[in-house]
Amino acid sequence: MFELNEAQKDIQDIVRQYAQEKVKPLAETIDKEARYPAENIEGLTEMGVMGINIPELYGGSEMDELTKCLVIIELAKVCASTAVIVDVHYLVSDIILSMGTDAQKAKYLPMAVEGKLGAFCLTEPGAGSDAGGLKTKAVKDGDDYIINGAKCFISNCGPHEGNHFVVIALTDPEKKTHGGMTAFLIDRDNPGLSIGKTEDKMGIRGSEVSELILTDCRVSSDAILGKVGDGFKIAMIGLDGGRIGIASQAVGIASGALEAAVKYAKEREQFGKPIAAKQGLQWYLADMATRLEAAKLLVYEAADLRERGEDVTTVAAMAKLYAGEAACYVTDLALQIHGGYGYMKDYAIERMYRDARITRIYEGTSEVQKMVISRNVINQY
Ligand code: CAA
Repeated sequence: MFELNEAQKDIQDIVRQYAQEKVKPLAETIDKEARYPAENIEGLTEMGVMGINIPELYGGSEMDELTKCLVIIELAKVCASTAVIVDVHYLVSDIILSMGTDAQKAKYLPMAVEGKLGAFCLTEPGAGSDAGGLKTKAVKDGDDYIINGAKCFISNCGPHEGNHFVVIALTDPEKKTHGGMTAFLIDRDNPGLSIGKTEDKMGIRGSEVSELILTDCRVSSDAILGKVGDGFKIAMIGLDGGRIGIASQAVGIASGALEAAVKYAKEREQFGKPIAAKQGLQWYLADMATRLEAAKLLVYEAADLRERGEDVTTVAAMAKLYAGEAACYVTDLALQIHGGYGYMKDYAIERMYRDARITRIYEGTSEVQKMVISRNVINQY
């Protein structure tokens, strides 16, 4: 049984209060206008939340894995866009923390604490689930590398988002995933880097997701994260953590949807009684609450394993798979409970239903998570 410690409970309370008082009232407008929620990120920065995973040496508060999940859950209950911006930012800071040189940490981690957002650039038009199929190339030129290629669907990348970019590129095309890729840490103001089309999305509309174009993008060897050839593994280890974050986002969305459904079911009267009195609907609520609880426990377990430095690949994939599916199940039934009103934009459940859908897709589809889980299960026995 997981019990939160006092520090975790404190952060959970603080972020919950901020989310309910400041983030929730903006969520509808942010979605409608597909607007980057600058005020939320500024507020979270002032509260120290953007650097919660970063050591005090760099200005952060050095909290544990589960605390990050609690933050993302509280934000996602009211605004999934804000939650994913923070999640991807944590993913990038974690990569810098684990793989960066002292100079990279000293440069980028204080910026991350100040709310300057990091972006993780792996996906390409021909390399989605098959992340090994990427074509972006980094060619050595003296002490530098020249990078050419295009990334797509990059979160925290757009007119307002993206200060530093972890870019995975081929340095030895023959070897591909097995040592052929390298991770580079690139500044936004690099003249070889430009932001392409910003996507018009179904949900999480406040999170900017764009193309990143690299044209003769020159970086020095100092920009390499880890070693030449480590890129694919760095991406996969980063995604192990990122998947726990997306599972947290899914738990938050499902939790917000369950709360909305219960409130509505108690208020809405049909056939002379609140619809919450109907057994069919009570059974919906029971199934929703059970899946939500199971998803939350998987998130807590994955965070705990990662905190203890254990291999987390399988449990992170399970958490992401289960929580993403649960979020879609819960928001679907919550919308059903709202009936015709749930289909209208006047009710938050319409947005939650759209926001939930991406949690089965990004940071590895549900099908990719099943690949990861089954490979590990087959190797285990
Ligand atoms: N940790 C450490 N190393 C790992 C690893 C992990 N989790 N997973 C794989 N590796 C290593 C392997 O051990 C192997 O190492 P060796 O070369 O030493 O043998 C190497 O990486 C290659 O592994 P595989 O042969 O398993 O690679 P694969 O080509 O079969 O791919 C895959 C595996 C799991 C399907 C992977 O391609 C994958 O995860 N695809 C999904 C990509 C994804 O999640 N994209 C999300 C984009 S980011 C995003 O969505 C952010 C956002 O917007 C919010």
